[in-house]
Amino acid sequence: MKNCYLIDFNPIGNEDVGYLVELEENKQIPFNIKRVYYTHSVPDETQRGFHAHKNLEQVLICLNGKIKVKCFDGEIAKIYELNCNNKGLYVGGMVWLEMLDYTKEAILLVLASQIYNEDDYIRNFGEFIKIADNFNSKKNKSIE
Ligand code: TYD
Repeated sequence: MKNCYLIDFNPIGNEDVGYLVELEENKQIPFNIKRVYYTHSVPDETQRGFHAHKNLEQVLICLNGKIKVKCFDGEIAKIYELNCNNKGLYVGGMVWLEMLDYTKEAILLVLASQIYNEDDYIRNFGEFIKIADNFNSKKNKSIE
């Protein structure tokens, strides 16, 4: 699927001393980092997300617990189970995101390429599909 993939980080350390994971912009994280946020204490059964971004790029890292992230690019959907703090999920623009099945202790850290801007959100699924369809038909025309 487009604009969505897992990144493996390289933990430094070992079982005796523990681990350190280094995240630098334009290195492990494939963009300039403008914002960091995290969610925690999300009650069972709560679902978050249910939006896409027009341009924002993000890397989602589940530092503790487990979260399922459903990603849909307008054509293909994929569910990623984030349960390992040595991996990040890159999500670029025009990916519909749904965060499901949080465990109580789940902490989701997000590194983002832009400051918070509500205008970059698409919060209506119908609107997302329209924009994604338009984008995909233009892309297919240019390939033909
Ligand atoms: P939202 O992005 O919808 O989060 P989630 O998908 O996890 O539910 O944001 C929830 C609220 O927090 C919304 O009112 C916007 C606000 N917000 C900020 O003020 N700054 C931020 O960096 C983010 C991500 C959200």
